[in-house]
Amino acid sequence: MASTHTRDPGTPRHVAVIMDGNGRWASRRALPRHLGHRAGVKAVRSTVEGCARRGVEALTLFAFSSENWGRPAEEVARLMQLFVEAMEREVEELDRNGIRLRFIGDLGTLKAEVRERIAATEERTASNTRMTLNVALSYGGRWDIARAARRLAERVARGEITPDSVDEASIAAELELAGSPEPDLFIRTGGEQRLSNFLLWSLAYTELYFCDVLWPDFDDDELERACRHFAGRQRRYGLTSEQVARV
Ligand code: FPP
Repeated sequence: MASTHTRDPGTPRHVAVIMDGNGRWASRRALPRHLGHRAGVKAVRSTVEGCARRGVEALTLFAFSSENWGRPAEEVARLMQLFVEAMEREVEELDRNGIRLRFIGDLGTLKAEVRERIAATEERTASNTRMTLNVALSYGGRWDIARAARRLAERVARGEITPDSVDEASIAAELELAGSPEPDLFIRTGGEQRLSNFLLWSLAYTELYFCDVLWPDFDDDELERACRHFAGRQRRYGLTSEQVARV
């Protein structure tokens, strides 16, 4: 992995990705679906390297949604195995390159073996500051918001805060991504144009980029295309283009 580059002004601080299309990539080659997920790991590596090289501060990958538990048991088991293997294999290089790994989602639903590996990986990379790689596992955007609401309700019940102090900032502070900048660029591969219950709260002002390429084929040229699309957007946050031009 190349050394740290300072971030170009057109480079997103935080990139969030739905890695879609592994199954179709495999079936087009008459391979079982799990080999599509395996091929997807290469694209994960390339995207992590490409983001770090461009000076992106945070990359959040949707690896397994709350809804993915409904897939055939064999596919779920193979995906979990793949996550454990990838953590074991990649942690050293990620650490050497200053990348901090964090896992977000309802991690209590994962098997002990996966949870233990997550804890070891997070601990090993905890002091790294070049880029944070958030891996969403058993994650759902609605789950995240409901959990934040529940935590605030508990604080109200304990008398620590009053109901009228609950506002956008206090909700955001209880979300899994609290402390990260909100995603600037959202990428979804695989041709579908939807959010699929990913970071619903934090994507409010994010630039959305959809491409047809299947996730295992998402390489550095594709990432460059997405970053160029982002650099060409004017972010208005509800203002007029004239107002934004004056800032
Ligand atoms: C969606 O494609 C992909 C997933 C549910 C799994 C993503 C996992 C990886 C890329 C493995 C590596 C991840 C890490 C973080 C090491 P799909 O199966 O829905 O594809 P389809 O729409 O073509 O069926």
